[in-house]
Amino acid sequence: CGIVGYVGGQSALDVVIAGLKRLEYRGYDSAGVAVLADGGLAAAKKAGKLVNLEKTLVERPLPSGTTGIGHTRWATHGGPTDVNAHPHLDNAGRVAVVHNGIIENFAALRAELAGRGHDLESETDTEAVAHLLAEAFSSCGDLAESMRQVCRRLEGAFTLVAVHADEPDVVVGARRNSPLVVGVGDGESFLASDVAAFIAHTRSAIELGQDQVVELRRDGVVVTDFDGAPAEVRAYHVDWDASAAEKGGYDYFMLKEIAEQPKAVADTLLGRIDAEGSLTLDEVRIPASVLREADKVVIVACGTAFHAGLIAKYAIEHWTRMPCEVELASEFRYRDPILDRRTLVIAISQSGETMDTLMALRHAREQGAKVLAICNTNGSTIPRESDAVLYTHAGPEVAVASTKAFLTQLVACYLVALYLGQRRGTKWGDEIRAVIRDLSRISCEVERVLETMEPVRALARSLKDKRTVLFLGRHVGYPVALEGALKLKELAYMHAEGFAAGELKHGPIALIEEDLPVVVVVPSPRGRSVLHDKIVSNIQEIRARGARTIVIAEEGDDAVVPYADHLIRIPATPTLLQPLVATVPLQVFACELATARGNEVDQPRNLAKSVTVE
Ligand code: G6P
Repeated sequence: CGIVGYVGGQSALDVVIAGLKRLEYRGYDSAGVAVLADGGLAAAKKAGKLVNLEKTLVERPLPSGTTGIGHTRWATHGGPTDVNAHPHLDNAGRVAVVHNGIIENFAALRAELAGRGHDLESETDTEAVAHLLAEAFSSCGDLAESMRQVCRRLEGAFTLVAVHADEPDVVVGARRNSPLVVGVGDGESFLASDVAAFIAHTRSAIELGQDQVVELRRDGVVVTDFDGAPAEVRAYHVDWDASAAEKGGYDYFMLKEIAEQPKAVADTLLGRIDAEGSLTLDEVRIPASVLREADKVVIVACGTAFHAGLIAKYAIEHWTRMPCEVELASEFRYRDPILDRRTLVIAISQSGETMDTLMALRHAREQGAKVLAICNTNGSTIPRESDAVLYTHAGPEVAVASTKAFLTQLVACYLVALYLGQRRGTKWGDEIRAVIRDLSRISCEVERVLETMEPVRALARSLKDKRTVLFLGRHVGYPVALEGALKLKELAYMHAEGFAAGELKHGPIALIEEDLPVVVVVPSPRGRSVLHDKIVSNIQEIRARGARTIVIAEEGDDAVVPYADHLIRIPATPTLLQPLVATVPLQVFACELATARGNEVDQPRNLAKSVTVE
């Protein structure tokens, strides 16, 4: 969910709605706002996207005030209805609260409140908080203190932001696990899940830590822990501006972000390769001795970041000769994984806020492992709680389906693999130097792929009425196939599956029928040519059974030509780096298919960009 709070001299409603627009990527099942005006509190909320709320506000305007809060929701407790939308109010309508996360003891709290005569109308865990705040406020008369008292009783993960009609110049926020950032303006203050919500007003930000409460006024903020003791906070300057989070002439953020990939890849490499072609990853503060003595790497991540991890495994095992496991963060800690002080855990996350990944890294650190985060969001929770971080510097990614973040995660993973290889002195010294040279040129290759995408778009449009598309790959092409399938599911809502090409004959080949589109990612014929030959055989096997083959192959690879119904060319790259160029046509393919099917590209149904619940 996305949260905004404002107190200052402007119309709170305008600031909050503009902020919510920038946070809609965090959830768009419903939206709501509350403003303090004329000694009272006025609220509006609506199921569906923010535009529905905006329409309601035109039909039934709220009084204007300069203190307000807002919310855009990704539903957890209770369906995405008007009633379940945030903010939630107490029975007297004096307190309004918005919430991100899940309050695990909410059933007990609701029962307790009902016992004291409170009347709760929604199915949400949040409404209980509004009632508890109202009760606390009636005895102490201070919203920040009420928030502290209530937070001490809550279990689970939450960010809460509240206002009370009796304190019209105050917004109070609280944070446990889910993100919350303060924006410090001139005579105005902001609270939001992400700096994007207030970047148009100020670039001075304060990061709130775990279990902190903030009292926001026009002229400043006071931060304490849940017991009221003053808390230490970190102030920072946001190093990108509002235009980075705008569409800049593209129809969708996703198109813009796909197009930004060459620059994003170059930015991830910037300053990390020196003139002699060695890596300088100063940020990896994990002592060299720990890196040398580590005996295993474990990667945890979710969604697209998990696919980056699957590719990283090939690079890490090859260049470092260390065993590397990759695991879905949501599964990791529940199987009691074997970790110790010699395990290096890599947590990959674009947002740095994914709760599953955060919980996995906490578990790893409790077992003594060192954690390196690969992350795109400065100051977010996952890097803060890791031993070291390698930022991807992709710039803000707004479209829910990840593109430039994925490519830059791959680059960061290669850098880590090469760095570990260098530090540990494996026999691949020459190859490592050659790959570093290739990596420094890869951004131009990505650019070249983007210039040749028109046939891919035409192909996508021609497949708009298909029900299923399969994706096959071998070696690093296998995770690329998984990512291609995920993109299609997320965006086009089509049945799509990725398979290891060699596994096809053990079951999935039964799915092949006349004219079924099958995308095949073909490894380079140079280098590990045996891989290439095997996949050419796999293409023949499916074509013989009627599949329509869409072949992604290196320029100059003639062996695939007779078996490709559609041929998509990518530049020649070393096998391990091929995902950087092979993924791009699959992103374009999914984006165009979604558009052809009339889907919302940037905000696919049921999804959210950053999922801060487990
Ligand atoms: C959500 C998004 C995915 C993303 C995943 C991990 O599910 O919809 O696109 O890959 O979270 O996000 P992260 O921010 O941790 O990379």
